[in-house]
Amino acid sequence: MQLPIDQVRAAFPALALADDGEPRGYFDAPAGTQVARRVIDAMGHVMVQACANDGGLFRTSVTTGVIVESAIASAAAFFNCGDDEVIFGLNTTSLFFQMAPLIAHDWRAGDNILLTRMDHDANVSPWLQAAAARGVEVRFLEWDRESFALKLETLPDLIDARTRAVAVGHASNFLGTINDVAAVCAAARAVGAVSIVDAVQSAPHMALDVAAIGCDLMAASAYKFFGPHAAILFVSRRLQAIIPPLKVRPSADVMPTRLAPGTPAFEAMAGTAAAIDHLAWLGEAAGTMSAAQPLRQRLVAGLAAAQAHETDLMRQFLAGLSDVPGVALHGIANPNRLHERVATFTFELAGKSSADVAAALAARNMFVWHGYYYAWEPAGVLGVKERGAVRVGFTHYNSAAEVDALLGALAGIARGG
Ligand SMILES: Cc1ncc(COP(=O)(O)O)c(C=O)c1O
Repeated sequence: MQLPIDQVRAAFPALALADDGEPRGYFDAPAGTQVARRVIDAMGHVMVQACANDGGLFRTSVTTGVIVESAIASAAAFFNCGDDEVIFGLNTTSLFFQMAPLIAHDWRAGDNILLTRMDHDANVSPWLQAAAARGVEVRFLEWDRESFALKLETLPDLIDARTRAVAVGHASNFLGTINDVAAVCAAARAVGAVSIVDAVQSAPHMALDVAAIGCDLMAASAYKFFGPHAAILFVSRRLQAIIPPLKVRPSADVMPTRLAPGTPAFEAMAGTAAAIDHLAWLGEAAGTMSAAQPLRQRLVAGLAAAQAHETDLMRQFLAGLSDVPGVALHGIANPNRLHERVATFTFELAGKSSADVAAALAARNMFVWHGYYYAWEPAGVLGVKERGAVRVGFTHYNSAAEVDALLGALAGIARGG
């Protein structure tokens, strides 16, 4: 299976842009991806054809209701869950902040929660604040500095009968490591703790499956998977049954209004559904799936095609990076362990600040991040919060030629260019 890269790139209007004849190199996907044309079209369509609140009897309102239903069905296929287990929100951070006090409502002194030193702070601070408000102990699952993997063997020492919640990231936005979240959630479930998975960095690269992972909460941000600025949240029925609602009195005590107060961004819902359609289309583009199959099946095939393409890019990048003088990579470099990482690479160049490297690449119209990207805990472990590190990310729309151009630029910068 091979992604037809030119056809895939043509699906993104922004990829054709150039500035003063210099094409844009988008290597900033871990912070936000470019938007598929069908997403832009879907959002425009909603704002022209169905610009109304839902619940009314007139044409535009009825159409809005249909859009909501279909967006929820798409998000449910994305997570592999029921339509009554999904809500939409502004972003992952605010969805976790929204849920934290509800989940913590019955925590008591003597209880504990488990977080990790690998997570983005969106999956740390909401739970830290809830724990502080309820007087609950906070424990941390560490990661190994050699293997860049969570120390899962320490779970039995960290989780006990008083553990109320366990929050873990699916893929790290700093190290790129894919974590065995099913193992963490199984350990949480065994003691009746709520299990929370931040899938923001895995969602653009692999099919999510809450049924296989066994979590209670999972979030993903659409602007990281080729859609608009919005996020989706899976809330298991088990969790719904034990948390209070977050709603105004007139709204129905059923999902999604039970946990998603106020008027949603209908256009962002339509855009998110279109981004999910784009991912499903990748399987057709690769020739591994027919358009007639159910959305979930097409999504799994589409993301498998994306993953295969990105694995090639990872292999190419790692091989080239080893020839760049003075590079220190903070993440898995072993080509036999590529299935344990996403294509997010954080590194430092000897003698150069991360801002200098990012600026030198920006001067070549190549877009990369520097700093620590809110990965407060991992950056603290590595001691790079002050000086930061460079982060490049590849996704299915990046080409081998772009990776070559980036490697060439990095080699030039490392040699003083
Ligand atoms: C792993 C991870 N979790 C959460 C977030 C926060 O997402 P949002 O901006 O949707 O709140 C990010 C953003 O970079 C992230 O990388």
